Amino acid sequence: MTASHAPTRQLDVDALLDDRRRRIVVCCGSGGVGKTTTAASLALRAAERGRKVVVLTIDPARRLAQSMGIEALDNTPRPVPGVSTGSTTGSLDGVQSLDGAGSLDAMMLDMKRTFDEVVESQASPEKARQILDNPFYIAVSSSFAGTQEYMAMEKLGQLDKDARASGRWDLIVVDTPPSRSALDFLDAPERLSSFLDGRFMRLLLAPARGPARLMSAGFNMVTKAVTTIIGGQVLSDMQAFVSAFDTLFGGFRQRAQRTYELLQADGTSFVVVAAPEPDALREAAYFVERLSAERMPLAGLVVNRASVQPDVDLTAAAAMSGYERLRDSSDDASRMAAGLLRLHADRRLIVERETRLRGRFATAHPDVATVVLPALPTDVHDLDGLRRIGDLLGGETSDVA
Ligand SMILES: Nc1ncnc2c1ncn2[C@@H]1O[C@H](COP(=O)(O)OP(=O)(O)OP(=O)(O)O)[C@@H](O)[C@H]1O
Ligand SMILES: [Mg+2]
Repeated sequence: MTASHAPTRQLDVDALLDDRRRRIVVCCGSGGVGKTTTAASLALRAAERGRKVVVLTIDPARRLAQSMGIEALDNTPRPVPGVSTGSTTGSLDGVQSLDGAGSLDAMMLDMKRTFDEVVESQASPEKARQILDNPFYIAVSSSFAGTQEYMAMEKLGQLDKDARASGRWDLIVVDTPPSRSALDFLDAPERLSSFLDGRFMRLLLAPARGPARLMSAGFNMVTKAVTTIIGGQVLSDMQAFVSAFDTLFGGFRQRAQRTYELLQADGTSFVVVAAPEPDALREAAYFVERLSAERMPLAGLVVNRASVQPDVDLTAAAAMSGYERLRDSSDDASRMAAGLLRLHADRRLIVERETRLRGRFATAHPDVATVVLPALPTDVHDLDGLRRIGDLLGGETSDVA
C-alpha cells in the first residue's frame, strides 16, 4: 500500500560544499533535530575536500566540543585537531583544487562576549564601560529571548568580515541555537532591535503602565527580575542604560540589516534539518516557506535520524501474524521468535510511517532537495562520528545497523 507521492529530489551535498562560490552554509531546524551534528559534519567534510572552513557551533555537547578542541569558551576559532586535509601534491599555487589545502577551524559561540564586543566596537571606550558595567545591561545581554540567535548572526557577520579580510577561510558553516522554532533565528534581529530602539524601554520605565503590560517571553524574564528587586537603584540603572544605549540603537539596526542581507546573498545556503516526525517536518515546511518569502537561498532538507529499513524481506503484516501465532507458545524459543517478529513488524511500520511523512513533505514542496540521514546506533561525539555522518550526507552508502 504505497501512496503516490512526488519523487524526492536528492540533495547533492558534495556539490554544495565544493562550489567555491558558496561562502556560508547555515544549519537551521527545531530543537534537538541534529543541527550541531550536521553543521560540524558538513564543515569537516568540506575541509577534508579542500575548503578552508570555519564552523560556528552553539552549545555543542561536551564530548563533541572536547573532540573538536573547543571546550574553551573564548569566542575565537581554533584549528580542529585530527582533520585529514589530504596531500597538497597536485595543487598548484593560485589554482583552486579540491585535493589538499583544506583546513578546519571551530569555535563555540559565547553570547555574552559577542554582545560585549558589539558594544565595544560601537561606543567610545568610556561609554562602552558604562554600558558593560550596568547591571541592567548584564541582565538583558544574557537573558533576553532571542539574544543567542541575534548574537549568532552577529558572529557570522564578524567571521565573514574576517574571512574576506584575511583569506583564512573560504567557507563558514553556522549552527543555530536550540530554539523551539527554527523561525526564531530569522526573527531575532527584529525582536532585539525593536527592544533596543527604546520604545519598549520607555514603556518599561513608564510608571503609569508598568511592566505587567509587557508580555513577550524575553520581557517576562527581565521584568520578573526587575519587579522582584525593583527599587531606586534598579530604575536608575535602567535609565542610565537607556541613555547610554541610545547612541547605539541606530548601529544595531544597521548591523542587523547587513547580516540579514548576508543571509540573502548568492553565496549563502540554508540547510534545514528535521526529524522524520510530523512536528519537525511541519516546522521545516514553515521555515522553507519563510526562506522563500525572505528571498533567502535554500540548499535543501536533511531528514535526520531516519529509522533504518530492516534487511529481512518480510512485510509488517506477515511478521505480525507470525507473532500472534507464536506469542502464547509454551516453549521459550518460539516466544523469543515471537518477540523478534514483533520488533521487526514495529520497525517496518515506523519506516513506512516515516516514508509517508517524507512523501507528504515532498508533494507539498517538490523543489526542496532532500537527503535522508539514518539514525546511527550511538551518539555522534567525535571526528570519526562526524566523518561517518558526512559520508552519509555525501551519499556514500554505509552499513549503519
Ligand atoms: N544521525 C544520528 N544518529 C545518531 N545520533 C545522532 C544523529 N544525529 C544527531 N545525533 C545525536 O543527537 C543528539 C542531538 O543532536 P544535536 O546536538 O546535533 O541536535 P541539535 O539540533 O543541535 O540540538 P539543539 O537544538 O539542542 O541544539 C546528539 O547527542 C547527537 O550526537
Ligand atoms: Mg545544537
